[in-house]
Amino acid sequence: MPTVLRIQGGRPLKGTIEISGAKNSALPLMVASLLTDKPLTLTNVPDLADIRTITQLLEMLGVTAQVEGNIRTLNAAHITSTTAPYDLVKTMRASVLVLGPLVARYGLAKVSLPGGCALGARAVDVHLEGLQAMGATCELEEGYIIARAPKGLHGAHFTMRVVSVGATENLMMAASIAKGQTVLRNVAREPEIIDLANCLNAMGANVQGAGTDTITIEGVPLLNGATHKVIPDRLETGSYAIAALITEGDLTLTNTSLEYLPMVRETLEKAGAIFEDHKDGFRIYRNGPIHGVDVMTEPYPGFATDLQAPFMALMGICEGASMITETIFENRFMHVPELSRMGANIQVHGASAMIRGVKHLSGAPVMATDIRASIGLVLAGLAAHGDTSISRLYHLDRGYENLEAKLQACGAVVERCKIDG
Ligand code: EPZ
Repeated sequence: MPTVLRIQGGRPLKGTIEISGAKNSALPLMVASLLTDKPLTLTNVPDLADIRTITQLLEMLGVTAQVEGNIRTLNAAHITSTTAPYDLVKTMRASVLVLGPLVARYGLAKVSLPGGCALGARAVDVHLEGLQAMGATCELEEGYIIARAPKGLHGAHFTMRVVSVGATENLMMAASIAKGQTVLRNVAREPEIIDLANCLNAMGANVQGAGTDTITIEGVPLLNGATHKVIPDRLETGSYAIAALITEGDLTLTNTSLEYLPMVRETLEKAGAIFEDHKDGFRIYRNGPIHGVDVMTEPYPGFATDLQAPFMALMGICEGASMITETIFENRFMHVPELSRMGANIQVHGASAMIRGVKHLSGAPVMATDIRASIGLVLAGLAAHGDTSISRLYHLDRGYENLEAKLQACGAVVERCKIDG
C-alpha cells in the first residue's frame, strides 16, 4: 500500500530542532574508507536511505560496516570486488564516488554510468577526464565505466571544465594515494569538500586548499584509519530555517551553524528573517511579511541549488514577486506544477521561474519528484490552509532524518499514512 505524508497546515512552528549530520558529506566520507586497510570511524552520520544505500554498495565491494546509532565504522582491509552494479548506482548517483578510490588503490574499477535522473543528464565526464589526466584509461562498456591504472595513478595538473562537487571529491580521493603532486583547479568550494579534506588529512593524506578554487594534493602510498565527525547538514538547516518563516513560527536550530549558509542568510534576511546567533546554532523568526527576493543558484558560496525548491515555496506567499534562476541543473523545476496545485502563482521561462506571491496556499494531494522538491512541498503544506498529502516519500527519506518527529516536536500536525489504491 502506498504511503503518503499528511500535513494539516496553518500552524506556526515553535521550538527547537537538532540538525543531523550532512548527507552530502557523509557519503564521500564513507567512500574514503576504500583508501585504507584500517578502520575509519565516522560520527554524526545521519540515518537516511542514501546512507543505507552507500553502505550496501561498500559491503558489496567487501567493506565491513559496523553501525551503532550515528556512528559508523568501515573497514576496507579485504576488498572482494571493484564493481558497482547498475541496479544500485541508478538509485543514487553518488555511487560514482567509488570510481576514484578503487582505481587508485586497486588499479581497476567498474562502475555503472549513473544514467540520467530527474534533475537532468548528470554527466560524469569531468570525473573521467581527471582520472585520465592521472594516468587511468576509462572505457565505456555496456553502460559501465571501466577505469584501469595497472601501474597506479600519478599526480597531474587538472582544471575542471565545470565546477563539480562530485568530481572534486572523486579526484581528491584518487590523488591522495597517487604518486606525486596533483593540482586541481576550478574545484567546488562547498563545506563538504573541506570536511572530506579534513578527514583525508586525519587519515594521513596531504590535501591543501580545500574551500578555495584550487586544491593541491601530495600523494602518499596508503592512508591510515581515523575517527572523524561529519559536519552539520546545511541543507536541512536551510530547509528548517525556511519552515520557521513560511509558518510565521519561531525556531531554534541546534548542532549547526549559519557559517555554512552565507548567501542563504543574506537572502532570507532580505525576505524578512530575523536571526539570533547561538553558541551551537541560531534562532530564526519574523515579525512582518515575507518580501519577494530574486535568487540565482550558484556553486558555493552562492545560493545553494538544493535550497531552490524550499525557497520557492517561501516566495509563493511573499508580498510581491520573486525571480528564481536555476543555473546548476537543467531541469530542477519539477516542484513548480505541484506548488501550483496548492495555489502558487509561478510562471517558468526557461531557467527562470517568476513567482507572484499569493495570500495563502491551499492544501492538496501532491507528488514529490526529487529530494529537495519533496521538502519544498512539506514546507508549502505546513503553511497552507487545509490538508496536504505528499506521495513518493522515498525522495524525502533520502535526505531528511526523523522529519515527522522533528516537526511534531514544534507543533506540526504531520503523519505518515498508508492509503489504498
Ligand atoms: C552534488 O551532486 C550534490 N550531491 C547535489 O545534491 C547538489 O545538488 C550538487 O552537488 C550541486 O551542488 C551530493 O553531494 C551527493 P555536480 P553532484 O557534479 O556532485 C554538471 C541532493 O539533493 N557536471 O556538482 O552530482 C552536472 O550535470 C543532491 O542532495 C558535468 O557536466 O553535482 C551539473 O549540471 C542533488 N560533468 C553540474 O555539473 C561532470 O562530470 C553540477 O554537478 C560532473 C558534473
